[in-house]
Amino acid sequence: MNENNISYWIDSTQDTNFPVLDNDITVDVVIVGGGLSGLMAAYFLKKEGINVAILEAMKLAKATTGNTTAKITSQHNLIYDKIKKSMSIEMAKQYADANESAIKTISDIITMDKIDCDFERKDAYVYTQEKKYVKKIEKEVDTALSVGIDAEYLEQTPLPFSVLAAMRFTNQAQFHPRKFALSIINSLANSGALIFEGTRAVDIKEGNTCEVITDRGKRVTAKHIIITSHYPFYDGKGMYFTKMHAVKSYVIGVTIQESFPDGMFITAENVPGRSLRYHPIPEGQLVLIGGEHHKTGQGGSTMVHYDNLRTFAKDNFTVEKELYRWSAQDYTTLDNIPYVGRLTSDTPNIYVATGFKKWGMTNSVASAMIIKDLISKGESKCQDVYNPQRGNIVASAATFTVQNADVAYQLISGKLERPDADIDTTCTHMGCELQWNDAEETWDCPCHGSRFDNTGDIIEGPALYPLKHSGEGRNIVEPNVFKDKEK
Ligand SMILES: Cc1cc2nc3c(=O)[nH]c(=O)nc-3n(C[C@H](O)[C@H](O)[C@H](O)COP(=O)(O)OP(=O)(O)OC[C@H]3O[C@@H](n4cnc5c(N)ncnc54)[C@H](O)[C@@H]3O)c2cc1C
Ligand code: FES
Repeated sequence: MNENNISYWIDSTQDTNFPVLDNDITVDVVIVGGGLSGLMAAYFLKKEGINVAILEAMKLAKATTGNTTAKITSQHNLIYDKIKKSMSIEMAKQYADANESAIKTISDIITMDKIDCDFERKDAYVYTQEKKYVKKIEKEVDTALSVGIDAEYLEQTPLPFSVLAAMRFTNQAQFHPRKFALSIINSLANSGALIFEGTRAVDIKEGNTCEVITDRGKRVTAKHIIITSHYPFYDGKGMYFTKMHAVKSYVIGVTIQESFPDGMFITAENVPGRSLRYHPIPEGQLVLIGGEHHKTGQGGSTMVHYDNLRTFAKDNFTVEKELYRWSAQDYTTLDNIPYVGRLTSDTPNIYVATGFKKWGMTNSVASAMIIKDLISKGESKCQDVYNPQRGNIVASAATFTVQNADVAYQLISGKLERPDADIDTTCTHMGCELQWNDAEETWDCPCHGSRFDNTGDIIEGPALYPLKHSGEGRNIVEPNVFKDKEK
């Protein structure tokens, strides 16, 4: 087994190697964050002849995009009936269209650019073994059919255990996300996109022409800024820290004696949530079993979650070998729909794409198409359902209260139980106390999902500064550099 918590996608591909930004530059559009959403935004803009620069804090496509399970589907568990109820059937249709169109776009790009990324068409199933989800699945099938999705209600699946009900979407897909992303990166580099790694954006100067300021104090001047940093690194009074939370999930990759059934599967129930698919590898099939999600920094011993997945695998398949294990987090919004569009109503040229709730393969591509349209045409046909300022977020007041009461609780209880550690374990984002993650050996923030390695360096999340500012070898500009910045 690979003991290092590395995903199969990262382990089976090469690293990228782009320079750090070490001078000021000017482009049409600067994109902050080089995961799938940033890369696809750059790809579509470049096709329109627009000059782009990508600033990536670490390495491209290695964060959530490098740790996904990479199902490409418009089946986002049970979502369409929820959108119909909280917004309208028209918005449910817009969401379906955006994601179905993303599947087709990914498939078209793979064909056009001849990308070898193990892309395969597969049916996607949601199943339940709990009575209370049967009705929900029935309703979801009805709503999915009414928005034009090829959905079907079933009482069994190809899985080797019985279910109470299931729902199938036909002609969905799966791929190797890093093989796909690396080909997009290659095409971007060949078409003259400016790409920088090891370059963290730490601030924005708003205006008709705006600026992104990096951790080395360099400036990127642009007409438009796209924030695809997973959690928006710049809030701009959008109050994103009150509107989303990080959810961590675990994956194991095993080989099994039998052949894994054709399809991609997920439970309707959350507890215990399970996600299954296989991926072809030289040794045969790597069966990916995911689940055990919890709010980041609030899951107790993270080792236990891998053990639970192992038990599930052994109970249902003849497991030969565990080859991989990894975990990652994604953000969930108040109403479960991503925030894609203008960051706030006062920032007409700053855009955001975030909150994909573990359905970011299609949603990244959908968000990139929407933002490309907003920049090049001023509007997009799927902009309303994703609009970060959408009216129904107010209607999600109960979720808002629960989310922020939880942050307040973490802030206070963490101070009382402050751990005895060599480094300061107060999160540099908004001051919550960090929790030790024993499986990954990281410090994780229970408030908005910032994560730090055991030396205090940032791994991910909204924090812009490491736990120790004075550590040797860290190219971090001290916060006072920005004291005189205009706002
Ligand atoms: C366990 C798991 C399984 C999943 N499975 C699926 C699935 O089967 N199907 C599906 O559709 N979706 C799935 N998802 C969701 C999907 O993987 C994500 O939604 C998607 O990869 C997010 O892409 P992104 O580009 O927004 O973020 P990321 O890939 O995280 O990229 C953001 C990038 O921004 C960089 N960055 C951050 N801050 C800064 C800064 N200040 N300056 C510069 N750069 C910065 C980061 O280093 C990172 O590289 C899954 C997620 C998880 C956690
Ligand atoms: S991530 Fe917000 S306080 Fe830690």
